[in-house]
Amino acid sequence: MSSYFVIGNPIDHSLSPLIHNYWLKKYGINSTYEKKKLEINDLEGFAEEMRNSETINGANVTVPYKNEIIPFLDGLTAISDETSSVNTILKENGKLIGHNTDATAFHETLNKYSLLADSVLIIGAGGVTPSIIWGIRKLNLKGKLYITNRTKEKAIQLVKKLTPALNPNSIEILDWGDVPNAKLIVNTTSIGLSKNDNLPLDFENYQNNKNCMFYDLIYNPKETKFLINALKRGNNIMNGKMMFLLQAKQAFNLWTKVEAKIDDEILKIVD
Ligand code: ATR
Repeated sequence: MSSYFVIGNPIDHSLSPLIHNYWLKKYGINSTYEKKKLEINDLEGFAEEMRNSETINGANVTVPYKNEIIPFLDGLTAISDETSSVNTILKENGKLIGHNTDATAFHETLNKYSLLADSVLIIGAGGVTPSIIWGIRKLNLKGKLYITNRTKEKAIQLVKKLTPALNPNSIEILDWGDVPNAKLIVNTTSIGLSKNDNLPLDFENYQNNKNCMFYDLIYNPKETKFLINALKRGNNIMNGKMMFLLQAKQAFNLWTKVEAKIDDEILKIVD
C-alpha cells in the first residue's frame, strides 16, 4: 500500500484528495491520498520523511510552497527548473524529483480547446505566471505576449529570469492599467477568489468582440467578475477547472502510470 499527499497552507479547500481518491478507487489501486497542512519550516522534514518512507510515493505541492519546496528536492524536470515551480513530486529510485504539471496542463487546455491565439495578455506576475508563460511559449505565438502586473517591477524580474527561453522582442511589459488588444487574456492573479473582487482594468475596447477568450485560472467561484463582465461584453470565457483536472491527471499518471479519465463524475466533484 502506498500513500500520496497534497501539501500546502491553507489546505482545507483543496479538491485534490477527492479527485485522486476517486481515481485510485476507480482503477483499483490500493493507495491513499491525503491533505497535509505544513508550516514553511516543516518542508525539509516532509521531504526527508518522503525520501525515507517505504510507503509515500508522491505528493502534490500547492500554494504557497511550489517554489519553497525546491531546495529540499533531489532533482527538477526542465520545466520545473525553468518556471521555478513544482506542483508534483515523484519518487524515483529513492530520489525526489520535482515536476510541474500546471505548465503542461495549461498548454494542454490551449490545445484541447484550440486556443491558438496570436497575441496574449497575461495579468499578474505571481507564482503561477511562469507556468502560464511556459504553456504559451510552446504555442510558438505569432503575435505579442503582453504582461501587466500591479507591481510592474515583479513582471520585469520575472521576464528577465525567463528571457533565455523567450524571444525578448515578442514580449512587452505594460503599465498597470494599460489594456492592449489580444486574442487571449489570462488572469493569473488571485483577484476573483472572493466573489466581490474585481480587477481594476478597463476592458471597454473588447465590447462585442467574439474573437477573444477571457481565461481565468480561478475555478472557484466558477465565474469570477472578470469572466462575468467578459460574458456581458460578448467575449468567450473559460475558467481554470480543466487546467486543474489536467494537472491532476498528469500527476496521477506520473505516480501510477495509469491514464485516468476525466469523466462526468470527476467534473461533478470539481463543480
Ligand atoms: P504568489 O502567487 O507569488 O503567491 P500572490 O501574492 O498570490 O503571489 O499574488 C499573485 C498575483 O496577484 C500577483 O501578480 C499580485 O500582484 P502584485 O505582484 O502587485 O502583488 C496579484 N494581486 C494580488 N492582489 C492584488 C490586488 N489587490 N490588485 C492587483 N493585483 C493583485
